[in-house]
Amino acid sequence: MAEYTQKILAEYNLDAHGTTVMIQIVESSDFVPLYNVTFPGIGDATKLLVMSLRSELTAMVPIDPARLEDKRYLTALNVKYLDAGNILIDKYVPGTSSETKKLLTSYIVNMMLGLGDLEALLADENLEEIAVNGAKDYIWVFHKELGWCKTNMKPASDNAIYDQASAIGRRIGREINNLSPLMDAELADGSRVNATLYPVSQGGNTITIRKFSKNPWTMTAMIKNGTLSIELASLVWLCIQNEISLLFSGGTASGKTSFLNACSMFFPATRRIISIEETRELQLPGFAQWIPMVSRDPNPEGKGEITLYRLMVNALRQRPDIMLIGEVRTEKDAETLFEAIHTGHSVYGTVHADNAQDTIVRMTNPP
Ligand SMILES: Nc1ncnc2c1ncn2[C@@H]1O[C@H](COP(=O)(O)OP(=O)(O)OP(=O)(O)O)[C@@H](O)[C@H]1O
Ligand SMILES: [Mg+2]
Repeated sequence: MAEYTQKILAEYNLDAHGTTVMIQIVESSDFVPLYNVTFPGIGDATKLLVMSLRSELTAMVPIDPARLEDKRYLTALNVKYLDAGNILIDKYVPGTSSETKKLLTSYIVNMMLGLGDLEALLADENLEEIAVNGAKDYIWVFHKELGWCKTNMKPASDNAIYDQASAIGRRIGREINNLSPLMDAELADGSRVNATLYPVSQGGNTITIRKFSKNPWTMTAMIKNGTLSIELASLVWLCIQNEISLLFSGGTASGKTSFLNACSMFFPATRRIISIEETRELQLPGFAQWIPMVSRDPNPEGKGEITLYRLMVNALRQRPDIMLIGEVRTEKDAETLFEAIHTGHSVYGTVHADNAQDTIVRMTNPP
């Protein structure tokens, strides 16, 4: 085992729905910083106890997966789990102080209704990405300032990762299984999720979470951090004001969607906007007349698929002034995009390409 020099890079506490979490990021000789998570007051034995109460809790408070999208239902479940947690703690660990009880019950709620220990990582505003790479590896996180860090958390098993992925999918009517081992989904807070199953992902089941940023990127923030100059931002504004369509290109995680979102502050309030995405990422200002649409995978029988392409064709019948296309991927997508432009709409979309030249090559040649 490598020996770590423990220079502390960052240290802070978080609150994950009532559970206190301590984060300490230390430099290590392991090439990347270590992101250490501790739950003060919740030791390994306590965690095991809470885990073992799972089936008893489910029996006490059954969950109707079909209703999980309903916020009121979730709030009610939350209260019921707090009550059930209190009853079980009194039964198995009589004499627990009320403070510890509060800690344990919030831990129980995170386990039953959330993503368990991952809730700690979801609560950290400094993280952009959470990566579960199978049960053999530690969970990795992408920290806004420090980049990729390795956590001290490991998934319990590949089955546990699978359970988590299915639970995430079930809430929004998506499935992940042997027949369709790749899934795009999102969490209730808007974070984007991708999951893959073994053996398609050879190292085990994976979950990658692009965390939803509570404060969407704005043009001013992007000018301030040097993403673009005031002149370029002004040019983009002029283009949008004059209904010139734009494509934003870049590599994976280069900030395409964030830039598209930041542009939304330039959309005139008098325009009707339809956005089309695979997962909900865009957040437009409240004044906009905005119809957000998302595509859907087919069910296990291969039925019910709604592709981006179909949504684009459909959007043309919804009288949009502005169309936002989350990602232009297929030849058909690109064709529809240009058709929309020809028929007088302003279209703003993102496309995977390394630079402007490549974007033109991609748009003018079949994939
Ligand atoms: N201008 C920026 N400066 C610093 N960080 C940024 C900037 N734009 C985006 N980010 C951060 O980078 C991450 C990726 O951003 P985003 O999702 O917009 O990228 P993307 O190119 O659309 O990715 P993908 O290829 O997965 O669709 C996000 O966590 C976001 O907060
Ligand atoms: Mg994107």
